[in-house]
Amino acid sequence: MSRILVTGGTGYIGSHTVVCLLEQGYDVVIADNLSNSDLRVLDGIEAITGIRPPFEKTDCLDCEALGRIFDRYSDIEAVIHFAASKAVGESVEKPLLYYRNNIGSLINVIEQMNNHGVKHLVFSSSCTVYGQPDSRHLPVSEAAPRRQATSPYGNTKQINEDIITDVAHSKADFRAVILRYFNPIGAHPSALIGELPNGVPNNLLPFVTQTAIGIRKELKVFGNDYNTPDGSCIRDYIYVMDLARAHVKAVEYMLQGKADEQVSIFNLGTGRGLSVLEIVKKFISVTGANLPYVIAPRREGDIEQVWADPAKANKVLGWKADTPIEDVLTSAWRWEQHLKKIREKKA
Ligand code: UD1
Repeated sequence: MSRILVTGGTGYIGSHTVVCLLEQGYDVVIADNLSNSDLRVLDGIEAITGIRPPFEKTDCLDCEALGRIFDRYSDIEAVIHFAASKAVGESVEKPLLYYRNNIGSLINVIEQMNNHGVKHLVFSSSCTVYGQPDSRHLPVSEAAPRRQATSPYGNTKQINEDIITDVAHSKADFRAVILRYFNPIGAHPSALIGELPNGVPNNLLPFVTQTAIGIRKELKVFGNDYNTPDGSCIRDYIYVMDLARAHVKAVEYMLQGKADEQVSIFNLGTGRGLSVLEIVKKFISVTGANLPYVIAPRREGDIEQVWADPAKANKVLGWKADTPIEDVLTSAWRWEQHLKKIREKKA
């Protein structure tokens, strides 16, 4: 079976993808600098799959170290490149960090792929490349125009997409799949792996679960005066395990020679938009947890509403995000309860 190099493989989406790859019989090697993850993730992966994948503590900015991984694992046939910095607010404060890390890492990964004859790349992009689409472009398909990025983080995703396209033009046998994620949430149903936010979470779901478990006093719903049915923002929340499965499909699509275009772009979402208040209400009703929340002013830079048209991924990859939102919210809650148990054990 083919081996897949997963950069950022101990991170949130990376770890769930590693589980799916191992379950489908792929060999994996993880490269991660552990800047935003923890080695204990490997224990979770092993507990779920029975396999402890090889791990290389490597920073993708270290091109030579990356090259040594390709030397050591000569059976690598594809790379899934997750490793990147992803905090939008931090990227505004530290733009050079984001440009250096996110762009330098991709360049090094592709350079070492070229040096070692590896031709298949899956890249983590984001729906942030669409900005706020016009209403005629909602739900948003891959044909919708990209908009000027509103943060350095978003700009790195656009630049990376362009780098991949330029490389493809220069090398006839290079294949890439660019996956534009909508809003990934939830955790593996075992609650053995999940999201580990660093400090105060920026994203909605970790803030919801941390509030419900008592770490945060209350959730702030950022704005209820948007032009949406209940006034709060609308997003396409996609279960991280559904998202992870799409990566396996993307790898198969290339390795099985089905990728006619050199660069294929897919939106990964459910096709269903949910408002912040809908998420809050569903979370309370599904988990029975107490979730204090207040309406707060709008958050700067937020877009009003975006959700995916995933028809292309549904048809071409034969993939669908079909886990009911109730199960997704339950998984996020079970993960937060698991983290609480670990904290209590330590205390
Ligand atoms: C953000 C990034 C996006 C990135 C994604 C990673 C922006 C503009 N976009 O998406 O580029 O790929 O994270 O997951 O920053 N909310 C609250 N209270 C909270 C937290 C969030 O009401 O405490 C609301 C937000 O206003 C938003 C929704 O929840 O309407 C989702 O927010 P979030 O989880 O941060 O994701 P995005 O902003 O959509």
